Amino acid sequence: MKVIKVKNYQEVSEKAAYLIAAQIQLKPDCVLGLATGSSPIGTYDKLIEWYNQGILDFSAVKSVNLDEYVGLDGTHEQSYRYFMNTHLFDKVNIDKNNTYVPNGMADDLEQFGKDYDALIEQMGGIDLQLLGIGNNGHIGFNEPADCFVAGTHVATLKESTIKANKRFFASEADVPTKAITMGIKAIMQAKKIVLIANGSAKAEIIEKALAGEITPEIPASILKLHKDCTIIYCD
Ligand code: GLP
Repeated sequence: MKVIKVKNYQEVSEKAAYLIAAQIQLKPDCVLGLATGSSPIGTYDKLIEWYNQGILDFSAVKSVNLDEYVGLDGTHEQSYRYFMNTHLFDKVNIDKNNTYVPNGMADDLEQFGKDYDALIEQMGGIDLQLLGIGNNGHIGFNEPADCFVAGTHVATLKESTIKANKRFFASEADVPTKAITMGIKAIMQAKKIVLIANGSAKAEIIEKALAGEITPEIPASILKLHKDCTIIYCD
């Protein structure tokens, strides 16, 4: 594991974007595992900048997103599909048919989870997975729990997560209480993982995850078992 502590958010974004850009340049038809939240916005902005400069070509890139709120459809402004379209997909030449975000409106979410995992496998797995981290150590929406969950599944959001994410909604009551998230297996099977974080609360949980034992109580702690994981953060 490579842990890089940098000065500020701009540096976090730039370093993460370099790793993603290198992945695209080395394998133009790579599978990117993508994340939402405020942390990756700067990284996506850099990638868009390089695309506009003719440095990056997304035409063969495929993507799978980590998670989606249950009950929000892709046109809802707080859905993660909407986030990905507005913060990245609409601004580069990726083929939207090659972009996958879990469907939080699926009738049978359990079956959807199985199909999503099968899809990732059919794509040959994830070449590079970008991750953020929750204040409680969650990755995707794999919340602190008694055990790790391998497959894509429905997660009940912790109160701390709902509170952290309410800033994006009109009120706390509007934050969905459930989400569908990629499980630990697809994340850990990614060939490369890049986790980014910004701010003192995130720095604290990262340092706790790295210092302590591997435990589902701090989901990000499992990343210590990954062979090619880079953590880039600032406080
Ligand atoms: C959400 C997402 C995570 C993300 C986390 C941190 O809960 N499900 O994938 O990493 O929030 O978000 P932010 O970067 O906005 O702090």
